[in-house]
Formats: sequence, C-alpha cells, structure tokens
Amino acid sequence: MQGKKILVTGGTGYIGSHTIIELITQGYSVVCVDNCINSDKSSLMSIHQITGVSVPFFQVDLCDSYETKKIFTAHPDISGVIHFAALKAVGESVEKPILYFRNNLDALINVLDLSIQNGVKAFIFSSSCTVYGEVLKSPVDENTPLQAAESPYGRTKQIGEQIIEDSVKNEMTQSILLRYFNPAGAHPSGLLGESPINQPQNLVPVITETAIGKRDTMTVFGNDYETKDGSCIRDYIHVCDLARAHILALSYIFNGRQKVPVEIFNVGIGNGLTVLEVIKAFEKESGLRLKYKVGPRRPGDVVAIYSDHAKASKELGWYPQYNVNDIMRTAWAWEQKRQQR
Ligand SMILES: NC(=O)c1ccc[n+]([C@@H]2O[C@H](COP(=O)([O-])OP(=O)(O)OC[C@H]3O[C@@H](n4cnc5c(N)ncnc54)[C@H](O)[C@@H]3O)[C@@H](O)[C@H]2O)c1
Repeated sequence: MQGKKILVTGGTGYIGSHTIIELITQGYSVVCVDNCINSDKSSLMSIHQITGVSVPFFQVDLCDSYETKKIFTAHPDISGVIHFAALKAVGESVEKPILYFRNNLDALINVLDLSIQNGVKAFIFSSSCTVYGEVLKSPVDENTPLQAAESPYGRTKQIGEQIIEDSVKNEMTQSILLRYFNPAGAHPSGLLGESPINQPQNLVPVITETAIGKRDTMTVFGNDYETKDGSCIRDYIHVCDLARAHILALSYIFNGRQKVPVEIFNVGIGNGLTVLEVIKAFEKESGLRLKYKVGPRRPGDVVAIYSDHAKASKELGWYPQYNVNDIMRTAWAWEQKRQQR
C-alpha cells in the first residue's frame, strides 16, 4: 500500500498514535487530526522518534464541519480514514450525555459525510464491545444480538454503527466497524503509551498509576460475581495488536476483498481474564505488591465479556501476538518513563 494517504482522526490519542506508527511502518502516508481534548501533541514527537517521520497535523474540532472540510481540501488524495476521535469515559457520559452525543456523533457525521463526498475508499470506525451490552454468555461473536447500551457512551457507538450502515451504500466507499475489547499496554520502544488528559478509568492504567504512587490505592469493584475468583472478566488486547488490525482492515478493502459496503469484526484476544488475574500478572512482571481494596460492585459493570475473533482471523488474517504479561511489562515501562518526564 506504498504511499496511500490515510487520515487518522483522534491520532494524538492512545490507539490512534500507535496505529499511526503501524501505518508508517507499512508504507502509508498519514495525516493526523485531533482537537487534543484528551491528548497532547507530544505523541507526535514520539511518533517522529520511533519512525523518523513528521506527520502533518491539524488541531481541529471535528464537530466544526467548516474546519474539517479544510483538511479534505488540503489533502484531496486521502484514500482511507480511520476514525478514532471520540470521548470515551463511560462514567462521564452518564453525567454529561449531551456532551457525548454531540461530540461523538457530530464528529462522526462530519468526517463520514466528507469521506463519502470526497470518494474515500476505506472508512474504518472505532467501535467497542460495549455495543453488546449485558451479554448472557461469552465468547461473543459478531452475530451476538446487541442489548441495550449500558451508558450514553455505549449508545454513541451503537448509533455510530447504525449511521455508517445507513450512509455507506455507494460503490466508492466501504467501511469496517472494529469492535475493540479492552485495549491496554504500550509501545515496546517505551517511547509511547497511554497518556490521557482526563483521569484514566481503565484497569491497566489504574494499576500502573497506583503502583507508581499517583493513586494511594485502587478498588476492585466486587469479588462476589459468579467467576472463578469473584471478580469481573474482560478481554485485554495489546494496543499494538489492535493497531495492526486497522492496517489489515484497510488492506482488506483496498485489495477488493470486501464484498459488502459495511463489515464488522471483533478485535479481542478471545481469552477472558479476571481483574484479580490481571493484578497478579502485573505483580509478577513488576515484582511489586499492588495496594488494592475490594469494594462493592459498580453499577453498569457487565460480569464477563470476551471475544470470539475467528472472523478477524479468517478474513483479515489477524492473530494477536502479545499476551497479558507483555501488556503489563510494556504498560509498566511506560508509566515509569512518564514519571521520569
Ligand atoms: N481505549 C479503550 O478502552 C477503547 C475501547 C473501545 C473503543 N475505544 C474507542 O477507540 C477510540 C480511540 O480511543 P483511545 O483509547 O485512543 O482514546 P483517546 O482519548 O486516547 O483518543 C481519542 C482522541 O480523540 C480526540 N477527540 C475527541 N473528540 C474530538 C473531536 N471532536 N475532534 C477532534 N478530536 C477529538 C481526543 O483528543 C483524543 O486524542 C475512541 O473512539 C474510543 O471510543 C476505546
């Protein structure tokens, strides 16, 4: 795919920045846009350090259709768009639903509309396993019926998927919806990782922030679920494995292998781990004892969800290369590096 130009929205964020590295490594040329509401431009410096490439950057709020259009005007040769830009804090979305609907849906509609108008061939959307809601059993595959979303954030992903299904119908643009499970870990170089402006809520950064002393302690929400040790089960996927899925999704469309306008793929390891197992994996990799307490169950938490990724393996040729120990090692190396800064 030498030279094809890809617009990455939300590209200074966690998954976007790791995906840009993978795109550059695979010979793509990249344009990045972000309004830096939950990230900063330092990730572009890390991308430069790792790849030697300075990525053209637009600091634009994608809810502003006028400013967004200027990006497409400046780069009329964009062949693919990977749309990461969104707010993602589940709890905040419950408190500020309008903010989440406006930001996540307005931004999607603007970028999608301009992509279709400009004849973009491939549109890849960051969806989430939250679209499955409270599932009755795992693993879930792409045909598992969607339940009501547990939060306004989850609903923005369900509605976002529907907007794409309804809009991508012409022959020029095709779309892939990637339903991520629980992305975690950091780039093996130690130069890039999760560095949000808002306080992280995901388990792995909460663990590393507790271990480094940014938090006094952390809470495991519930140890009385019907799981092997009573804590919730999730499917943790290394961010570099996830980044690679985007490159394979682009190739799938560019190589003419996609036969329908919109395809859906789960991207998770397919192996459920309990919260306590993840903590143990961290303690093993870091050699530290983590300070945590067990609290009551958290409203809205699904007991257990993990993926069946057979479709991504069969169609995209995607297989995970990292395990939970790699996730913990790279996440801990990154946390220590951030501390030094
Ligand atoms: N990290 C996860 O656990 C997870 C799981 C499933 C799905 N996702 C989805 O993956 C995508 C990327 O997530 P992430 O973890 O990298 O989050 P992130 O917050 O690190 O990255 C998202 C980026 O989008 C930018 N952004 C938000 N609204 C914008 C707007 N209106 N205009 C321009 N930029 C805007 C933010 O500044 C941020 O840099 C999101 O769509 C998220 O919902 C994430």
